[in-house]
Amino acid sequence: MFFKRKKLRWFMIFGSVDKARELVPLNRTVRVDVDGKFLCLARTESGFFATDEKCPHQKLPLTHGGICENGTIVCPFHRYAWDLKSGREIERREVNIQLYTVEERPDGLFVGIES
Ligand code: FES
Repeated sequence: MFFKRKKLRWFMIFGSVDKARELVPLNRTVRVDVDGKFLCLARTESGFFATDEKCPHQKLPLTHGGICENGTIVCPFHRYAWDLKSGREIERREVNIQLYTVEERPDGLFVGIES
């Protein structure tokens, strides 16, 4: 079985990882504009994660008060929660979240979006 490899376009979110850590406190989220697309950037003990900014449940802004707990992100509106490593909804409601690849590099924090 062959899998088509995703081709990513990379975008700098912050010019340094230290700046990203300063502006995104541990276990918090911020909204970021990546080439005209809003993403929710979350920071946990495991690092940075990026998801769509709109909650897949009712398309409300996930970043608006979204919090991270034990490697999950929790929507503030109806408390659906997703594993930030897999994108799976914790209670298996089949409403998974879109994740984007985030890389910490010497020259900044980058997110990869499929082209
Ligand atoms: S809008 Fe996010 S859980 Fe309902």
